[in-house]
Amino acid sequence: MQTLIEKAAQRLAGERRGAAMTGAGVSVESGIPDFRSRGGLWTRFPPEEYATIQAFRRDPEKVWRMLAEMEKTLDASSPNPGHRALAELETLGVLEAVVTQNIDGLHSRAGSRGVVEFHGSHRTLTCLWCGNACKREEVRQLPVPPRCSCGKVLKPDVVFFGETIPEKALHDAARVADTCRVLLVAGTSAEVYPANQLPSRAKRRGALIVEINVAPTLLTDSVTDIFIEGKAGEALPLLAEAVKRLL
Ligand code: OAD
Repeated sequence: MQTLIEKAAQRLAGERRGAAMTGAGVSVESGIPDFRSRGGLWTRFPPEEYATIQAFRRDPEKVWRMLAEMEKTLDASSPNPGHRALAELETLGVLEAVVTQNIDGLHSRAGSRGVVEFHGSHRTLTCLWCGNACKREEVRQLPVPPRCSCGKVLKPDVVFFGETIPEKALHDAARVADTCRVLLVAGTSAEVYPANQLPSRAKRRGALIVEINVAPTLLTDSVTDIFIEGKAGEALPLLAEAVKRLL
């Protein structure tokens, strides 16, 4: 693993135009289970029943049973060494952006500034019926499910299946993929479209793809150039240390 980390560090330190794309795996060490691993959220709440926009419109109270559990986990979480290492790589001047599929806000809390929240965020909510928007802080004390002043159930601004990616996030992520020279792909199964297209897009533009995951994924044999098998919270700090030594 050390040799692969050194190799990735050399390219990051040399190019100084890296980016990261992250998934639920980077927050596992913050106590947030991922979606598809054993015991993951989608193994207990089938996404077709709990995570499509049609399901939310049909029965928002039911979907909020899943969301309430998720919010509880998010409230108890804080950034781990993997999030902090990505923030440090940005401070060192070798990483320009983190495109994340996570809605937990932990990259920003760790100090990353160039964060693209591809699947939205749980920090704000919107009423699908009257369009009213509010912050989570404003509804935190309300009974679950939180309701808008119009009486309907509020929806967090996270992307449900069947919804489109926020336009700005789509645009910003495409720019990141087109301009980075090294892309760190950490803690994602790469099963969800269109986020899973970003690594191959970056590779077509000449970027080196460095994947960090506890297990191989759909990308590993096809798109990945360097596969670092390990926990993001362990491998990313080692990578940041190696870059620091080289600068
Ligand atoms: P998944 O649950 O599909 O994949 C998590 C990945 O992280 C797997 O490949 C695990 O092997 C890996 N992993 C687990 N623990 C790890 C660790 N400590 N370090 C490194 N890797 C680890 O989650 P995502 O790929 O993020 O979207 O899922 C993508 C999207 O699917 C989510 O954003 C969400 C979900 O449906 C929506 O809700 C729209």
